[in-house]
Amino acid sequence: MTTIKSSNTVWHHATVTRQRRADLNHHKSTLLWFTGLSGAGKSTLAHALEESLYQMGYHTFVLDGDNVRHGLCGDLGFSNTDRVENIRRVGETAKLFIEAGVIVLTAFISPFRVDRDKARKLVGNNDFIEIYCDCPLEVCEERDVKGLYNLARKGEIKEFTGISSPYEEPQNPELVIDTSNGNLEQCIKQILEFLIQRGIYERKSVA
Ligand code: ADX
Repeated sequence: MTTIKSSNTVWHHATVTRQRRADLNHHKSTLLWFTGLSGAGKSTLAHALEESLYQMGYHTFVLDGDNVRHGLCGDLGFSNTDRVENIRRVGETAKLFIEAGVIVLTAFISPFRVDRDKARKLVGNNDFIEIYCDCPLEVCEERDVKGLYNLARKGEIKEFTGISSPYEEPQNPELVIDTSNGNLEQCIKQILEFLIQRGIYERKSVA
């Protein structure tokens, strides 16, 4: 729990509630939390899924690790302490997006179980859909899309997840997606099926 230093503040209740936004949008909001190693396909999957949802008229937003680290979290590095703070801010931001009626997709390594669980607790279990992008380190390293594994192996990047910093696999995620085979369409279908079960998404034909 974060210590609140802003004393003498009083919560102001909005008249435009989450429920009213859902009524206006004709869909519920939720959080899809993608976690996995760098290069596992979190961002690719989150953006492709967002594209599908957008085309079907859903209100979405992707919070992407690399992008958020250019702004909101630009003051943070990759020490354990900074990663904890990174994920705390992302959790809080995602919570605001849920209140705003948006289906928010977060793509962060989020390597520590306890931090993901804190985010789950913050937004509530019903709204937290943890999606583990399961891809072996060897495959991520082989892909090395950004060339960072190479640098990490040479010691030019310190505290690199999977090499010199740990990744704790989710123990009980809502979804495990095998992202090692590159079948993006199949991965998206698996998530959409889950969202149908959850009553977030309805099968609609593209206009
Ligand atoms: S997290 O661990 O705090 O969740 P986040 O997802 O925001 O990480 O950022 C990960 C991205 O930062 C990676 O995809 C990679 O492009 C880049 N990066 C740069 N340095 C590191 C590092 N030491 N460990 C992991 N990713 C790094």
